Amino acid sequence: MTKKFRVFATCDVGESIELLRKRGYDVEVYPQPKAPPKSLILEKVKSGIDGLITTLRDPIDAEVFEAGKGKLRVVAQIAVGFDNINRADANRYKVPFIHTADVLTEATAEFAFFMLGALARKMWTAEHLLRENKWDYWHPYLPFLGDEVTGKTIAIIGTGRIGLAMIKKCAGFDMNILCYDPAYQNHAFVKAIQEIKDLLQRRGIAKEKTWIKYTTLDDALREADFVSVHVPLLRERESDTPTYHLFNERTLRMMKPTAFLVNTSRGPVVDEAALARALRENWIAGAALDVYEKEPLPPDSPLRDLAIEDRCRLYPHFASAAKITRLSTDPNKGMAGRCVQGLIDVLEGNYGGDVTKMPYVVNKEAFGK
Ligand code: GLV
Repeated sequence: MTKKFRVFATCDVGESIELLRKRGYDVEVYPQPKAPPKSLILEKVKSGIDGLITTLRDPIDAEVFEAGKGKLRVVAQIAVGFDNINRADANRYKVPFIHTADVLTEATAEFAFFMLGALARKMWTAEHLLRENKWDYWHPYLPFLGDEVTGKTIAIIGTGRIGLAMIKKCAGFDMNILCYDPAYQNHAFVKAIQEIKDLLQRRGIAKEKTWIKYTTLDDALREADFVSVHVPLLRERESDTPTYHLFNERTLRMMKPTAFLVNTSRGPVVDEAALARALRENWIAGAALDVYEKEPLPPDSPLRDLAIEDRCRLYPHFASAAKITRLSTDPNKGMAGRCVQGLIDVLEGNYGGDVTKMPYVVNKEAFGK
């Protein structure tokens, strides 16, 4: 390698940083666990770094690209979601940005499924009962019962990578599956899942016949016992099919009063004030959230209301937070590995320097011939 590249990382991404250094890169890592202030990112970018490693907490927009004009060559984000990066601005300044799709698909989907299970079977409430020494007897139905998941109907809102992985988990629990996606439908995948379901039933492995199909959002919400959200966050100006506040008073009221909502996508897809009301007023039975309109979740959030505590599971943006998924240096296994490999591809001109051929670059459209 001839040039020594300079990189600033807004957080530590583990061993992958050392691997960059071993390649001769000059890497500075922001030492705090909290995100750096934007002013510091601007200062570092202005100082002439070649690459910026970001997290979903960093706002990356025209101001940042302007600060790095002519010098900043790549932004590499350790996340699949990139709603914090202004794509139009990146394209205007012709800076490719990386995300870490695929490697967190199964981890995120399994966590969404575990959240659903914990919520439906009241696992948190049950453990509290024991720990608070209120487990006084075994009884057929007291002090409470949970809802089974097996054999129920789930709506998968968003059938991209993580939505499809969630479908696989749900199919394993013999669930009926309603699929909805405003932008991308994978009918071949849905057909294959139906074939597997039919085979399991024919061979006597599954007792009942179950099904999977695409439908409208309204029908999915009206019929489902569980609703799991897997769409990217897209605001009005960013898409013909925006997802901002897709779950609002109107759509929450469509759900059954016995139904549960699970969100592992992005917080602003759900109107939290409407959701808190839906839980307080029993429009729906419960919700499990891993993402919030504002993160970390503020102390005065209505979602923390003790009146809905047993029906509202809250997790700290944790769905991809598994060891290999987050930190493996292997770009086919870990977010850190993939993020750093994407950065290397751009800076070292892999793929003949053709950004449109680099697998982890998101905004390829800005680099077409
Ligand atoms: C996490 O939320 C991610 O987008 O990777």
